[in-house]
Amino acid sequence: MKTLDTIRQEFSPLTQDIIYFDSGASTLTPNSVVEAMDAYYTQYRSNIHRGIYAWSQQSTDKYELARLKVAQFIQANQVEEIIFTRGTTDSINMIAELLINTFQKGQNIIIPVTEHHSNMLPWRELAQRQELEIRYAGLRDEILDIEELMGHIDENTALVVIGHVSNVLGSIHPIQEIAHKAHSVGALCVVDGAQSVAHIPISVSELGVDAYAFSGHKVYGSTGVGVLWVKYELLQTLTPSRTGGDMVSYVTLDTVEYAPIPQRFEAGTPPIAEVIGLSKAIDWLQEIGWDTIQEHEKKLIDYMWGQISLRPWIHVLGGDKTMSRIGCFAFTIQGIHTHDIAHMLAQHNVCVRAGQHCASGIAETLDIVGSTRITFGLYNTVEEIDICMQALDSIYKTFN
Ligand code: ALA
Repeated sequence: MKTLDTIRQEFSPLTQDIIYFDSGASTLTPNSVVEAMDAYYTQYRSNIHRGIYAWSQQSTDKYELARLKVAQFIQANQVEEIIFTRGTTDSINMIAELLINTFQKGQNIIIPVTEHHSNMLPWRELAQRQELEIRYAGLRDEILDIEELMGHIDENTALVVIGHVSNVLGSIHPIQEIAHKAHSVGALCVVDGAQSVAHIPISVSELGVDAYAFSGHKVYGSTGVGVLWVKYELLQTLTPSRTGGDMVSYVTLDTVEYAPIPQRFEAGTPPIAEVIGLSKAIDWLQEIGWDTIQEHEKKLIDYMWGQISLRPWIHVLGGDKTMSRIGCFAFTIQGIHTHDIAHMLAQHNVCVRAGQHCASGIAETLDIVGSTRITFGLYNTVEEIDICMQALDSIYKTFN
């Protein structure tokens, strides 16, 4: 059984003198995931679904086993509901492409201003092409105004899109209620799970949504792989938007018969090594277990709030201790530019992200240039928070 004391040793980059507080951008990858991907390249490198030889069979088996693991990980009802993509952005673009003909002129799409550009721009494109109205849900007390969002949903609503967790505010959104309201008027609900999958157990069936997207690299897997889960009943009504190799059963010069679901939605050679890596990352997380993961994160969050309350000059966006959140703290310090803070933290070997975090709607609404963001992974410790806070003290003194 894994313990949090030994977890750090499983990440080679952490032997360096670095405090990595940017897991919201990309988590580090445990060595076992790297080894699983390496084994694919060094032992049985081959394409899937094609070769009638042992290596190809092995690649295919591992790839399809990964699909099963992902389905179980997010509690999908059917393994066929899992489509592998290149990442969350790719997944959301794909579901937007697949849904384009589902909507009609005059309908509306609800988008929170808190959304990452990945869950905003594909829908804005779609809205423009299909002449749909966009209704933005704004902020209240620096977090998403759920009441406003709910109030925007009416009989003309075609779709509600929302991040399960804001990548800036760290707030966890009430997806189940939002999906329920969307369905009550016949609308669909598509969720960006990029920031949730590594932090909270996901059950797409319980959430009751229609599509859910996430990336491997935010859940201790590699870059280049993502997941698009789509409810089977919806998937059955959709025509592939991407065509080519591996997604067909039979082609003549005049006809085409698409492969069964989900293969018909995976055109071309997929990111095989990355899918195998994602499967290993899920094993790794499950060995630790959600209780341990959430207990550790809560400890870091509580400690962080304690440290922040000693420093009134740090303003956490959406700064309410009672808010249901993950370990993501975006903050401003009056009089110091967010990039200066991040740059000076880097000089103390603390890695954070600064700017608008690809979610410019928040900065625009709050009329700020951006924020500095600290995000936690399973390998972070309270001692690292102490070092970061001391670095912030020294930065603050430099400017005051
Ligand atoms: N979406 C990633 C982030 O929020 C890159 O940092």
